[in-house]
Amino acid sequence: MILMRVVGARPQFMQEIAFRHEVDIRGYREILVHTGQHYDEKMSQIFFDDLGIPRPDINIGVGSGSHGHQTGRMLGSLDDIIEEYRPDVLVVDGDTNSTLAGALAAAKMHVPLVHVEAGLRSFDRRMPEEVNRVIADHLANLLCAPTPTAVRNLSQEGLSDHVVLTGDLMYDCFMHFRDQADSTAISRCGVADTDFLLATVHRAENTDNPERFAEIISGLMSLPLPVIIPAHPRIRGQLERITKTLIGRDNLIIIDPVGYLQMLALEQQAKCILTDSGGVQREAFFAGKPSIILRDTTEWREQIDSGWSYLSGASASAISLAYESVCGCDMPTQPQIYGDGKAAAKVLTAIEEFLR
Ligand code: UD1
Ligand code: UDP
Repeated sequence: MILMRVVGARPQFMQEIAFRHEVDIRGYREILVHTGQHYDEKMSQIFFDDLGIPRPDINIGVGSGSHGHQTGRMLGSLDDIIEEYRPDVLVVDGDTNSTLAGALAAAKMHVPLVHVEAGLRSFDRRMPEEVNRVIADHLANLLCAPTPTAVRNLSQEGLSDHVVLTGDLMYDCFMHFRDQADSTAISRCGVADTDFLLATVHRAENTDNPERFAEIISGLMSLPLPVIIPAHPRIRGQLERITKTLIGRDNLIIIDPVGYLQMLALEQQAKCILTDSGGVQREAFFAGKPSIILRDTTEWREQIDSGWSYLSGASASAISLAYESVCGCDMPTQPQIYGDGKAAAKVLTAIEEFLR
């Protein structure tokens, strides 16, 4: 069997380790296509180097652009790549523009499509990710859902056939790499081992709205511990501009994006994690850390219900209040939300059964 997997953004790279491991065990061939959506060394190559991910077979090299331009460029190239390799199945995951392009290309070229991380919904169509994931789900021939809520969401949209509850590949990755965490970034920041908070902000809904973004930064500034912010390139300039004008920003430690192993150390040692990232939200839970979600909604609802995450939205006072109610409290027992760390094996088994 020839599987083609299309990736392009940071969280899709580390999942390749879990996925490829299962592909190799079963003796299949994988063609890894990197769209080039993320291209800075610290947004792409660092993951391949640190984690030993095989080099992509093809890098389309699309770079940044408006959603339409970026997705369109990927789509044109993917047609040619599919024509050349004729895969038996094309696998996309998540909800990025690379996911959308991969899904559309597979559907147009009549290649069976598998969507991993299917069924997540924010119910907010203004989010580019919501549009991407709804389309990918409705084009997919096999839907691998990470959580029971995702399965229910699919069923409510009439998608019940070929839906498999697999658990979350990010959990596979976390379990595989958690003991290899690298605390270099923490030492460089000059903070005490565990006396700091970790924050990431990159979602368009937060970064494209200057008032909202400024509120989040004020909220982070009001917290009683140093806050380490590995800054996604889309916020770097904005952060520097804003923080220049803010008095009392001394607790913010802004650093470049870090590799996954350094991120794992930050997550496992931070007292609490504040984020608008889907991946970082789940990793906070895996690491047994409370998290504050800097959004109005989340697709990972179970985590809020479990009491391990708190939705603060973007208001500075709500962030500060959330911090007081979440941090320092006795945390409840964790339910098993994300499977057993063997999601990749379940995805591969589901693909085999589907193709049979
Ligand atoms: C994308 C995904 C988002 C995902 C995130 C993972 C979409 C619509 N969004 O968001 O769902 O959570 O990846 O990190 O696909 N940039 C660089 N260097 C890079 C990459 C990006 O400078 O290597 C800058 C560019 O100015 C670019 C901006 O970041 O315009 C946004 O990048 P883009 O890939 O469009 O979206 P993300 O915010 O990364
Ligand atoms: N991540 C990383 N370095 C960073 C920030 C994030 O390795 O500086 C990892 C993080 O551990 C998680 C993934 O990137 O595995 C999440 O990516 P991101 O927040 O960009 O996107 P999302 O998960 O929201 O799609």
